[in-house]
Amino acid sequence: MSAGFHARAAANIAFLKYWGAIDLDRVVPANASLSMTLSVCASTCWIGSPGGNEDEILRHDGVSFVAAEGSFRSRIAAHLDRLRSRFGVDRPLRVLTRNAFPAAAGLASSASGFCALSAAAAAALGHPAEGAALSELARRSGSGSAARSAFGGFVRWPAGDVDPEGAAPDDSELPAAPVTPANHWDLADVIAIVDDGPKTVSSLDGHRRAVTSPHFRARLEAMPDRMRRAVDAVRARELDALGPLIEADAIELHAVAMTSSPPIHYWRPATVAVLERVRALRETGVPAWATMDAGPNVHVIAPHDRSGAIAQALAGVDGVQRVIEDRVGGPPVVREGSPAGWPA
Ligand code: PMV
Repeated sequence: MSAGFHARAAANIAFLKYWGAIDLDRVVPANASLSMTLSVCASTCWIGSPGGNEDEILRHDGVSFVAAEGSFRSRIAAHLDRLRSRFGVDRPLRVLTRNAFPAAAGLASSASGFCALSAAAAAALGHPAEGAALSELARRSGSGSAARSAFGGFVRWPAGDVDPEGAAPDDSELPAAPVTPANHWDLADVIAIVDDGPKTVSSLDGHRRAVTSPHFRARLEAMPDRMRRAVDAVRARELDALGPLIEADAIELHAVAMTSSPPIHYWRPATVAVLERVRALRETGVPAWATMDAGPNVHVIAPHDRSGAIAQALAGVDGVQRVIEDRVGGPPVVREGSPAGWPA
């Protein structure tokens, strides 16, 4: 048995979000997206050699490592096949994966999980990858947002412009790229958990249905200008300029989801209550701006030194089950061997 490699990658929160694809199988997004890589919400994955000739895939259930099952296992197995064929290496792998997300938080872990898996697998198969190369491998997992977790700090993932023949661009044109590193701006993501269950509709189905919304085109047309202004605001560290763009984009994504066919309603009453509390905080001079992914939980973006007070305010909103304080973080880390204490 080899010592293998392990990788830790953090989740990211999109300021301007990926919603809808030109080519969903190849994960070519219809619009560019912009995100902040986090630090607490992260995944660690170790990959080495199994005892026998079959892949072994285990996930941590909060107590110990157990055999992965169902669609969770099949998505990982499919990505291992993809990576083996990319590198022309045909050997079975043993995979152990664990999320550092607070248990039952109802937060999507596919971005950090697939980015960590891609980094550990690439190293274990003898083709270590970081930066743009890792972004490209992680994107092909099917979770497009994983492409952005290949970098720390503030990250932009470009759109797939359709060429005149109507073909999607080359894969090589699609890696995410850093806008500024993590130490550029100490922002917090204060996450109000209003529902800790699994998503009612997957983001994959959301991307698929997005094009059926009468508002999909309008959002796409607004994106290039919104992206320019958001990138400028990140570079200049101007939250007053960035915040309204973040909130507008999230509300528009959910408007597209709610008007898709069939419609998707991710919000819960407490989602709206948290949005109201964030607006009330701003009226008292607190620079805090809300965003929601494909789910009911609310991420509040604010200067890190306001994180504690905002967390306290959000914890008092009816229907909020718990609050997680996260902040901007660095790129994935890959190391030889297994993490201390793992039964690799
Ligand atoms: O990475 P996916 O395919 O799960 O899609 C991500 C969708 C959003 O989280 C809603 C937006 C984003 O850009 O992260």
